[in-house]
Amino acid sequence: MRTAVCPGSFDPVTKGHLDIIKRASRLFDRVIVVVLQNTSKKNTFTIEERVHFIEESTKDIDNVSVEAFDGLLMDYCRMRNAVAVVKGLRAVTDFEYEFQMSLINKQLNPDIETVFINTAQEYMFLSSSVVREVASFGGDVSQFVPDPISEEITKKLVKGGEKK
Ligand code: PNS
Repeated sequence: MRTAVCPGSFDPVTKGHLDIIKRASRLFDRVIVVVLQNTSKKNTFTIEERVHFIEESTKDIDNVSVEAFDGLLMDYCRMRNAVAVVKGLRAVTDFEYEFQMSLINKQLNPDIETVFINTAQEYMFLSSSVVREVASFGGDVSQFVPDPISEEITKKLVKGGEKK
């Protein structure tokens, strides 16, 4: 059983993330999506909300499960006997940060490989921050986030709690 971990802050999960998760699920026997703390980001959604959004978006994929973890990604991978970390790579701007992370993670746990999957062209410029910004001004984010959670995300993000 080869387990891969898809880590991220997922604040919130986007169609771009979901595309990577689906593609990882075809490469590995089991994929665990883990919601972690990125210390350089201030989160909008709680851990519980972020886990819930991913669960709703992945419930039709048999070999995918979702968890939250407060700690180092490499400790989590060790705990779950994972063989790989899967991350999506968007435009070149992602590369330096992701490359640095993968090298640090390799130092922390040499047994785990980081596998990069290129983001699909249509999601190249999609990010959680874009979703948050568009929704906060009452814009339609249904094309950016998985269908089952689009309404819930919009309601939670629209300024003042009311859709404009
Ligand atoms: O979606 P993101 O914010 O790019 O994901 C980054 C994340 C959460 C995967 C990364 O910050 C992380 O692995 N956080 C857990 C702590 C850790 O292991 N950091 C790496 C060693 S410095």
